[in-house]
Amino acid sequence: MARSELCTEEEITTLVYGFYARIRADTMLGPVFNSHINDWDKHLTIMVQFWSSLLLGAGSYTGTPMPKHVALPGLSANMFRQWLALFHETTQALPNRHLAARAEEYAQRIARSLWFGYQMNNEPDRIPSELAHV
Ligand code: HEM
Repeated sequence: MARSELCTEEEITTLVYGFYARIRADTMLGPVFNSHINDWDKHLTIMVQFWSSLLLGAGSYTGTPMPKHVALPGLSANMFRQWLALFHETTQALPNRHLAARAEEYAQRIARSLWFGYQMNNEPDRIPSELAHV
């Protein structure tokens, strides 16, 4: 399926807003996000651009996620697993199953990559751990 046929930007907006509503209500992750994000409207706009660029090839996202995450203190494998669990909960509720499957694939790969990068930058003397059991 061509990327342009996968979904609409409105469906991506629904996914992003639904996901961050779960994140903000989560006891483990809510405080991390709320302490770093002052302007949620701006963050959600960036995240719609990010996912539209991945899923639709929109090209509207121009940021660099790795250094932003590397700079966050105290991230753990458990936090990334919880992030993925909440993302899975959100995609499960989507009627568009092609969108759900594609978004899941990207989320898994990017979470793994961010976790590797995080560990290599913050704990360079340790062998990076995997995000197993997700
Ligand atoms: C434990 C897991 C995670 C935590 C606690 C976390 C937290 C955050 C926070 C606090 C920001 C705002 C940073 C800032 O503006 O300085 C951010 C931005 C962002 N996050 Fe995450 N994140 C996590 C995992 C992920 C994953 C798995 C993805 C992608 C699948 C992702 C994608 C992004 C993107 C694209 C941005 C915007 C970066 C920019 O400003 O260009 N994050 N994240």
